[in-house]
Amino acid sequence: MRQMLIRNGRIIDPANQIDTTGDLLIRDGKIDRIDDHIETEASQTVDAAGLIVTPGLIDMHVHLREPGFEHKETIASGTCAAAAGGFTSVACMANTNPVADSPSVIELIWSQARKEGATNVYPIGSITENLDGEALTDIPALLAAGAVGLSDDGKTVMDAGLMRDALALSAKHTFPVMVHCQEHNLDVGAVMNLGETSRRLNLPGSPNAAEDIIVARDIMLAELTGGHLHVLHVSTAGAVDLVRWGKRRGVNVTAEAMPHHFALTDTAVETHGTDAKMHPPLRTQADVDAVIEGLKDGTLDAIATDHAPHAPFEKAQGMLEAPPGIIGSETCVPLVFDRLIHTGQLTLSDAIAKMTYVPAKVLHIDRGTLSIGAVADVTLIDPEKVATVDVTQSPSKSRNTPFDGWKLKGWPLMTIRDGVVT
Ligand code: DOR
Repeated sequence: MRQMLIRNGRIIDPANQIDTTGDLLIRDGKIDRIDDHIETEASQTVDAAGLIVTPGLIDMHVHLREPGFEHKETIASGTCAAAAGGFTSVACMANTNPVADSPSVIELIWSQARKEGATNVYPIGSITENLDGEALTDIPALLAAGAVGLSDDGKTVMDAGLMRDALALSAKHTFPVMVHCQEHNLDVGAVMNLGETSRRLNLPGSPNAAEDIIVARDIMLAELTGGHLHVLHVSTAGAVDLVRWGKRRGVNVTAEAMPHHFALTDTAVETHGTDAKMHPPLRTQADVDAVIEGLKDGTLDAIATDHAPHAPFEKAQGMLEAPPGIIGSETCVPLVFDRLIHTGQLTLSDAIAKMTYVPAKVLHIDRGTLSIGAVADVTLIDPEKVATVDVTQSPSKSRNTPFDGWKLKGWPLMTIRDGVVT
């Protein structure tokens, strides 16, 4: 019998409305007991005084790049970065090479993750074959192979008929269709947000409308079909409004926000160049404020990272050529604490819900709570720790972050998966 006792922590489990200071006992990889004080002969005792004890964090949106782009990241390196960031589970996007558009690729990711993953890994299959936007994948077969959702992330499915069909299948088989929202005809060649900064830098920009139009379309298609739409990386005030509107109408729509979209504006492109290039792009302060408001009022259900590693030589190509995306696994918790919790924008419980049982619910995975008998995935966070982001220390294979050198307050200290410290 293996026992680990976590003593005197502030235990927060939003799914069970628990916020209490006390002890948590893990026995044989399962949550055994939560109490004011537990007397037992544990083989391992952790003093969690002053720390927050939460369900293992879930990042529902990462790119692990394996198979095919192992120079950027692998399942081993990407899950190490996630574990270092406090995550015990990640869901990984389908834009690998080959694309995760067949059961064999989904199975390959599962088996590689079982061998080398520092976190649980939940693969997401693609909506269309080869991400070409022309024909649906064999969605029931991908689900049977273990895909937890479907997404062409990185690209929008431009054919509304195909999106309708994917959402109709979602209504039948109960899985989220996770959409990247960018009307590609409106932002051909765009490398950042369209606005004052793009004009000053003389760079092609993408208007908010490119995102908003697709969000509106897909909410309407979700209403038409009854399917579950999950809007990825919401970045505009308009998209927040549209999701709010969809929810009010009773549409089955959920949405997520990323730390970079609440912590940065498009002016970061001036200072950080390609490390501030991502899709959708960093927007204006009004959009940042709207994203934060959406997180506060529950319009935006989840916080995820869009951890998108790219090698230094790729990001060195300049704004026009460099691929979009930044790494984010290790900066998510400190940015959430520093920018949302310590500033009073989000309660601890709301912030933790958005990184635990809410994403678990969206993906229909049995994680994200400290319920008695649940798998012991647990994260310990020091809300008062102040440290500076040092990207050279990251286990990720890539270094593309605009947050290097940022001093932030609130860091994960220990990640426990299946009762074992990772
Ligand atoms: O910036 C991004 N990078 N956005 C995406 O949607 C895809 C991602 C990638 O794969 O690099």
